[in-house]
Amino acid sequence: MNASSRTAPSAKPPLDDKPPPLCEGTPGYVNLDHAATTPALVVVKQAVEAALPYYGGVHRGSGLPSELSTELYQRCRLEVLQFLGGDALRHVVVFGRNTTDLINVLSHSIAFEPGDVVLVTGLEHHSNDLPWRRVARVVRVEADAQGGLSEDAVEACLKRHQGRVRLLAVTGASNVTGYMPDIGLLADLAHRYGAKIFVDAAQLVAHRSLRLVTGERELDFVAFSGHKMYAPFGSGALVGARESFEQRPPFASGGGTVSVVTPDRQSWLNAPHRQEAGTPNLLGAVALARACRALTSLDLRVVAERERTLTRRALRGLRAIPGLTLYGSPDLELRRDRVGIVPFNLQGVEHGEVAEALALDHGIGVRSGCFCAQPLVTRLLGRPELSSLEYLALTRSLRNQPDGRMPGMVRASLGLCTSEEDIDRLCRALAEIAADPRPSRRRDERRRQRRAEIARLIMGVFAP
Ligand SMILES: Cc1ncc(COP(=O)(O)O)c(C=O)c1O
Repeated sequence: MNASSRTAPSAKPPLDDKPPPLCEGTPGYVNLDHAATTPALVVVKQAVEAALPYYGGVHRGSGLPSELSTELYQRCRLEVLQFLGGDALRHVVVFGRNTTDLINVLSHSIAFEPGDVVLVTGLEHHSNDLPWRRVARVVRVEADAQGGLSEDAVEACLKRHQGRVRLLAVTGASNVTGYMPDIGLLADLAHRYGAKIFVDAAQLVAHRSLRLVTGERELDFVAFSGHKMYAPFGSGALVGARESFEQRPPFASGGGTVSVVTPDRQSWLNAPHRQEAGTPNLLGAVALARACRALTSLDLRVVAERERTLTRRALRGLRAIPGLTLYGSPDLELRRDRVGIVPFNLQGVEHGEVAEALALDHGIGVRSGCFCAQPLVTRLLGRPELSSLEYLALTRSLRNQPDGRMPGMVRASLGLCTSEEDIDRLCRALAEIAADPRPSRRRDERRRQRRAEIARLIMGVFAP
C-alpha cells in the first residue's frame, strides 16, 4: 500500500475535518526504517511552506521578515516546552542540528571537575556515549543479555561512585530493541544519589508522551531530533533548567553567542543564545515545533496502542519463520512496553544481504548493521568483548576495507504510517528469503533499475 494513501485509522487527524494523509510516502515502497529517520508530516511541510515567504534573519534586522522570524523562533521554543510540559520561566529550549549535536552541547555546558563520573548504560547509541568520554570519566551499567536494564544495577553503580556521579545519561528507548528503561524510576535514583539525569529521547518522542515534570519528579535534560519525529529539516531540541546552561563558555562560539566583544575579551549571552552559535535554522525549528503540536493532537496514547498491536503482529509473524532469531525481550505479549523496533537475523544470511534482498526483491526498507550501538549489538549477539589485540586487528582490517562489515543484525522499525499489510509483507518476504536465500536472478537487473531511478529522481529535484 502506498504510504501517501495511508492514515492512522484510530488517530485524530492533526488538521481539518476530513482526515488528510499523515505523510507523503514513496509509492510502492514499504518504509520500516523509522528509527533511522521519518518522512515529513504533511502539516509539517505545510508549516514550513507557510513560514518560507517571511523567512528573515532571526535577531538580525528591523524589516518585517526579520521581526516576524525572531518572534516565530521564540514561539517554536514555547511549542517544544508545551510538548514536554516544561515551565517557560525555568526551562530553556536550545535548538541545534540533531540529538548528537545537542548532546555535545550539553556535555560542554556542565562544569565537570576532575574525577567526575557520567554514568551511561550499555543500551546507548554512540551519540550518548562518545561525547561524555571527552569531558568526564564514563562508567557503564551493562545491559542484560536481552538488552534490558536493571535498576538495581544502576543503583549499585550510583552507590559505588557516590559523590562523584554528576549525571546519569540514559536513552528513553533503545534504537536497537525498542526497550524503554523506566525513566521515572531512574530519575528518582539519580536524584537520590545527588546526580542529574539526561534522557536521550531521540527514539521516544515520536512514540510515547514524555513529560519534563511529573509531580515532584523532574527530568533535568532531554534532547531529541526533528528528523525522527516527522520533521526532517535539520533541527533538534535540548531542554533543561536555565541555570544549567549558564555555567560554562559554549561548545561552539561565534556570532549570536556574545554580548560584548573586545579584541581580547568577550562576554557570553545567557542561554539559549549562548548555545546557538551562528544564524539559527528557523525553518527547522518551525518544522520541529509543528511536529510537536501534531503529535500532541494525534494523541500519543492512541499512537502507542496502535504501535503495540503492530509490534505484536510483527513479533508473532517473524517468530514463525524458520531460522529467524529475534533479539531483545522474547515476550511476544509486550507485557513490558517497548517502542516498535524489531531486530533480527536470518540464519546463514548476512544481515546486509537480508536488507538488500528486502529492498531490491520486495520493496521494503529496513536497516542493517550495528545501528551506531556497537556495545549493545555485540552483547545481544552473544559475542565476547574484544581483547586489545582483537580490537587492533579489527580496526586495521576495517580501515583497509571501507565496505568491510561488522557483525550485526537487521532492524525493522515502525512509524505512524505503518500498516498491518506492511508488517505482513515483511513477514512474507522474510519467509521467502529464509526458504531460498540465494540472490534472485533478477537482483543485478533490479540494482541497475534502482540506480537509474535514483538518477532520474535526483534530476527531478534540481529541475527545471
Ligand atoms: C537513541 C538515539 N540517540 C541518538 C541518536 C542520534 O540522533 P541524530 O543522528 O539525530 O543525532 C540516535 C539516532 O539514531 C538514536 O537512535
